[in-house]
Formats: sequence, C-alpha cells, structure tokens
Amino acid sequence: MFSRRIPPELEPNALSRAVAAARARGTAIADLTDSNPTRAGIPYPDDLLAPLADSAALRYEPYAFGMPAARAAVAADHARRGVVVDPAHVVLTASTSEAYSWLFKLLCDAGDSVLVPRPSYPLFEHLTALEEVRAQPYDLVYDGRWTIDVASMLAAPAGTRAVLVVSPNNPTGSYLAAEELAALSQLCRDRRWALIVDEVFADYPLDARDPLTDIALRAGGLSFSLAGLSKSVGLPQLKLAWIVVGGPAAARDRALAALELIADSYLSVATPVQVAAAHLLHAGGTVRAAIQQRIRQNLDALRAAARGFPACEVLRAEGGWSAVIRVPATRREEQLVVELLEREAVLAHSGYFFDFPREAYLVVSLLPPPALFADACARLLRFVST
Ligand SMILES: Cc1ncc(COP(=O)(O)O)c(C=O)c1O
Repeated sequence: MFSRRIPPELEPNALSRAVAAARARGTAIADLTDSNPTRAGIPYPDDLLAPLADSAALRYEPYAFGMPAARAAVAADHARRGVVVDPAHVVLTASTSEAYSWLFKLLCDAGDSVLVPRPSYPLFEHLTALEEVRAQPYDLVYDGRWTIDVASMLAAPAGTRAVLVVSPNNPTGSYLAAEELAALSQLCRDRRWALIVDEVFADYPLDARDPLTDIALRAGGLSFSLAGLSKSVGLPQLKLAWIVVGGPAAARDRALAALELIADSYLSVATPVQVAAAHLLHAGGTVRAAIQQRIRQNLDALRAAARGFPACEVLRAEGGWSAVIRVPATRREEQLVVELLEREAVLAHSGYFFDFPREAYLVVSLLPPPALFADACARLLRFVST
C-alpha cells in the first residue's frame, strides 16, 4: 500500500523497547542522548520570542526564497564569522532537513546517489530514501583526529551527484580541514559533483583552533552551506533554516533559478519567524554563548572523569554538541547500551547508531545539565569498565 520510500520494518529497536519499559516502570532515566537545548536548562531571554507577535506578520507576501528582510538578516549574521554573504544567495527553508530534500530534488533523479560520511548523522538514511536517492558512504578515520578518507570516495557509483559533508560532524565533532576541502573541490570538479556542507554546529568549536566555516563561499565548484536557528541560537521549534549557495557565478545562478521553482512550490517558511529573524539572530547570541559554555563545561568534566578509567578514551572533539567515548568491547554495543540503561538508568547512544565501522563506542550529548551529566558519565564509565 505504501511507497518504497518507507522502510518495510518500522518496529522499535531493542534500546527503544528498553527505554519504553523503563519509563513505564517509572524509572528516572539520566538521558545522555538528549540534544534538545530547550530541555537542558539553558537560559533563554524571557522576551526572545516577543517579535513573533509583530503585527507586520499580519500581511502575507509569498516569496519563494523568503522575505527580503529575513534573507538580509541571515546574510548579515555571517559577519560574526568575518564573511560576506550576498542576500541574493540565501534561500530560507523550514529546517535543514527540508534544505536537504530541496537539494536532492534539485540535483538527483530517482536512483541517483549522494556520498554521505560514515560515521555521521543517522537521519541521512531517511532523508535520502524519502527522495529516492541512494546514500553511498565514505569513511572518516580516527588517528588522534578524524579525517576524511578521500580514497573511499573514489569508488562512488556512476549517477553520483553530490558529496555531503557535516562540519563539524555529528557525532565525531570534526571540522572540514583546508587540505580536505582542496581535495574535495578537485574531486567535485573532476566528477561534476556538487558539494553540500551541513554547518549547523559551526558556531560551537571545542578542540579546534581557527576552524574552517562557511564552506560554500570557499569551495571551487557549485556548493551549498546549510545552517539554521535550531542550532545557531538553540531554537529548533521556530523552524527557520537556510542554504547559502556558492560557486562560480553561472553555475550558482542556474542552481538558484532551479531552486526557486522548488521553493515556490512549497513556500514553507512562516511569516512571523521571518519578521522576527533579525531580532532572533541578534538576541539569540546569549543563548549560543550559554550553550557554548555548557558543552565546554561538560566536555571538561567528562575528560576529568575519564582519567580515572584508563580503558576508556574520550576522542578529540573539535566542535559540536556530542562526545565520543571509546569503551572496552566486552559485549556488543547494542547489549551494552541496554544493560547500561537497565542497571544504571543511564541512556547513551551506541556508535552503531551512527554507523561507526567497529565497536565499541558510546556517544553522549554535551547539553544535559552539568550535575546530571557528571553523575551519569561517572556511572557510565564505571559500568563499561567492569
Ligand atoms: C548534522 C545535523 N544536521 C541537521 C540537524 C537538524 O537541523 P534542523 O533542525 O534544522 O532540521 C541536526 C540535528 O541534530 C544535525 O545533527
């Protein structure tokens, strides 16, 4: 009855079943998977959302790429990172997920492929399948820092249309390095691939000095940088994201013309959030600073705690909202996370969830309140070390 875009199996996995059972028993779970900033005790200014009620939003003007003032506000916000963006190259969407779906519609026919990083963001599996696009993995390897194994891209099938890069990557935290961008730009030129760079966490450096950001402005070929309010000011509920289109003028302008048809068919960004965009981007800076302070504090606490458990290693995290812990592979990751939940009431992600090539890794969000985070990490480290 349903299309092939929907996976045949929609059953919850063992961990989801264990979480549901623990919640039904009334267990208070220390959730180290929660990456929702609005639930993490981050302070938000009380009047942050007041401009959503601006009466200017009573008038509806449909603009395919978004209202000019909102696009200008998004472009101007890039000045924080010292780059200049032309508002004409900014496309507003409701979310980064929607941005991906528009870019797949733009670049791919059914059955075409895009290269996706491994390990990375688990949603790629669904975002591609829902557009009838194949996700072809390329590898990131860890050798004190995560790097792209460019050789693993060379086997890309015919019909590959784009490379997806997440910078900094979720969950490895790695930013795209200048030499990786050079290699990728060359490959994209040779194979006529577009470059799509998800930079939703670009504002959250950790162990990174001078990280490369705003890649669409630096890449040689047709490229797209994605970001949004969800991470940049911790407001996922407002549903405002954007694509910055970059590359040689002719290719960029052709892409914008085609994207306009897609965007005009959906007109999905609500007017109030566009009217409020300039204020949200400006006033949301305090939220960003609070999130930055939180992830730094929690990463430091995790590192300090892990020093007492030499069998565990907290991997280098250049940026983003998560940390990866290599733990002894005494049992399968899937079993490990279920037992951790059932015995210690601590919920963590397995590396398997992000398609790590081997076991055993656990991934924790750096957003939870510090006291809960420190206590849950101590329990986790003790549990996996025994
Ligand atoms: C790498 C990455 N991209 C995009 C998103 C989601 O962004 P949005 O809320 O704009 O769809 C997430 C959410 O966790 C993410 O980890």
